[in-house]
Amino acid sequence: MIEVRSPEEIEEIRQAGRITHDVLIALSKKATPGTTTLALDAMAEGMIRKCKGRPAFKGYRGYPRTICTAVNDSVVHEIPVKSRVLREGDIVSFDVGVEYNGYYADAAVTVGIGAISALAAKLIDVTRDSLMAGIAQACAGNRVFDISHAVQSYVESYGFSVVRYFVGHGIGRALHEEPEIPNYGKPHQGARLQRGMILAIEPMVNAGSAGIKIMSDGWRAVTEDGSLSAHYEHTVVVTDKEPEIVT
Ligand code: MF3
Ligand code: CO
Repeated sequence: MIEVRSPEEIEEIRQAGRITHDVLIALSKKATPGTTTLALDAMAEGMIRKCKGRPAFKGYRGYPRTICTAVNDSVVHEIPVKSRVLREGDIVSFDVGVEYNGYYADAAVTVGIGAISALAAKLIDVTRDSLMAGIAQACAGNRVFDISHAVQSYVESYGFSVVRYFVGHGIGRALHEEPEIPNYGKPHQGARLQRGMILAIEPMVNAGSAGIKIMSDGWRAVTEDGSLSAHYEHTVVVTDKEPEIVT
């Protein structure tokens, strides 16, 4: 069952979303050549706790840190470590989840470090805009796969591939709630959306083929073909009009 949240609950999710947003902005600014992903993780945790939030990923299925990173051919879930130093030309995604007063928000961005290749810049733009195309479908009366289809068709029109192994999700009182939101599929399928549903929509897009593999730490996902990958995510509230982005 997909939960429908009250206006009071949505206000709590907005608070979690505001913190998530602020942390992502700070991470994007701090991500410069020579910075380690571990230092960025520490900054994010400090900010979240200062705002009376809790890092939603830390401890989730044993995940040890506050943020998930993903450099270049990493797709998602790279654990921040001191040995991962960002270099000019890298692209890195930051994925942040915040619990505030029992309510959750989840969002991700991908940024370039200094000057990046034209392909990397295009991949980032297409991934971000595919998320916006998906969000535009998150309206009361539409169905879940209208979102999926919009993301997939946008991405594939640029010759890139959507990752199928991971999906977006409902969110609210837990990080992951129903429904699952694949980034591919046929339109007009799946559960019907209603005002007050909260969705985390999160396309992961590979410059090459869609395949991924999971590394031996059990977390880090990388592209099978070694191509670049980007990730964007927003938490959105379904309304009768335009979807409300809270992150
Ligand atoms: N944003 C991701 C998701 O929604 C990150 C969660 S993975 C975690 O699935 F284990 F680190 F929490
Ligand atoms: Co998510």
